[in-house]
Amino acid sequence: MVKIAPSILAANFAALGQDIAEIKAAGAEYLHLDVMDGVFVPNISIGLPVVAAIRKATDMVLDVHLMITKPVRYVEAFIQAGADIVVFHLEADELQNIQAAIDKVKALGKRVGLSLKPKTPAVALLPYIAQLDMVLVMTVEPGFGGQTFMADQLDKIRAIRTMIEAENPACELEVDGGIDPVTAPLVVEAGANVLVAGSAVFGVTDRVGAVAALRG
Ligand code: DX5
Ligand code: ZN
Repeated sequence: MVKIAPSILAANFAALGQDIAEIKAAGAEYLHLDVMDGVFVPNISIGLPVVAAIRKATDMVLDVHLMITKPVRYVEAFIQAGADIVVFHLEADELQNIQAAIDKVKALGKRVGLSLKPKTPAVALLPYIAQLDMVLVMTVEPGFGGQTFMADQLDKIRAIRTMIEAENPACELEVDGGIDPVTAPLVVEAGANVLVAGSAVFGVTDRVGAVAALRG
């Protein structure tokens, strides 16, 4: 079954506890937390203290999406803050440092994922795919919520699904950016099994209906 991972980027930050309780009650499987450093992406969002506060407020699985440069510096700190799944970008450092970050997350017993920006091809995952718990395909340029879904990523999602089936069937395939009730069936058909959604969940008042609509 498809899993839904609401992104709090579109939530009301002044009433975050309430928003999180609502999407948990609506049956969302993961809570997606977007960390941005103003360097890897042209925006700044939340950091360690907010992740730690959310950890105290909910028992949901925290799916932490690090849009930061040189993530190896911070993966341990985000795990200490309460991350269950730590996802960072393949483009964010030299390859040996990406490998070091993967090793660090695994040594600490947490799930690890790699994310690809829209221009990064599926083949870039080949050296890592067997080690991953999750691949995150960006279907917008990372940095902002509320952007339009990039349909040209569907072939990449298909290619990664094929790679996962061949090399590591337990690996989850998550998509992020412009996912709504219209685009969700397209990415699911292409092979995604975890759907991140910010605006489509927190931009409406009926969160139960919003989560159900994404499942199709
Ligand atoms: C964008 C973030 C997304 C964002 C998605 O860089 O990674 O998680 O919150 O927002 P929507 O669903 O509104 O496109
Ligand atoms: Zn995200």
